[in-house]
Amino acid sequence: MARRILVLHGPNLNLLGRREPHIYGTTTLDDINRKLADRASAANAVVDTFQSNSEGDLVERVQRLLDNPVDFVIINPAAFTHTSVALRDALSATRVRFIEVHLSNVFGREPFRHHSYFTDIAVGLICGLGPRGYELALEHALADTGA
Ligand code: DQA
Repeated sequence: MARRILVLHGPNLNLLGRREPHIYGTTTLDDINRKLADRASAANAVVDTFQSNSEGDLVERVQRLLDNPVDFVIINPAAFTHTSVALRDALSATRVRFIEVHLSNVFGREPFRHHSYFTDIAVGLICGLGPRGYELALEHALADTGA
């Protein structure tokens, strides 16, 4: 069966391309999602993408994994990285393996961005590599054996 990967994008990532381009670059979210879908299909895998500005919608999308599981999740929780126990708990509840991605190097920015509610339960963290971070996360997601 085709490997299934869910890519979750948190708040304000729908503005990529016109949001603080000196920090987040000029690539749009559609560009990122298209590249991921193309790479996945070349590997006979399926990528599903979901962006929301609402914490509840993201929690509900993650909860759906209990009935419709995927093999791996790639998530950029955006600002919810630093605030959302609820989204962390939803991921924990599903026990899904996931990589946390950030476009910017959060550790080189304001101190409030240095703490994440996700990193300690993630398989790994990629930050500061721009859109390529998602591509590298996908390469791992395609190869991940759960070990
Ligand atoms: C971000 C970093 C977060 O601190 C910020 O709130 C975002 C984007 C990133 O991709 O660099 O919205 O997750």
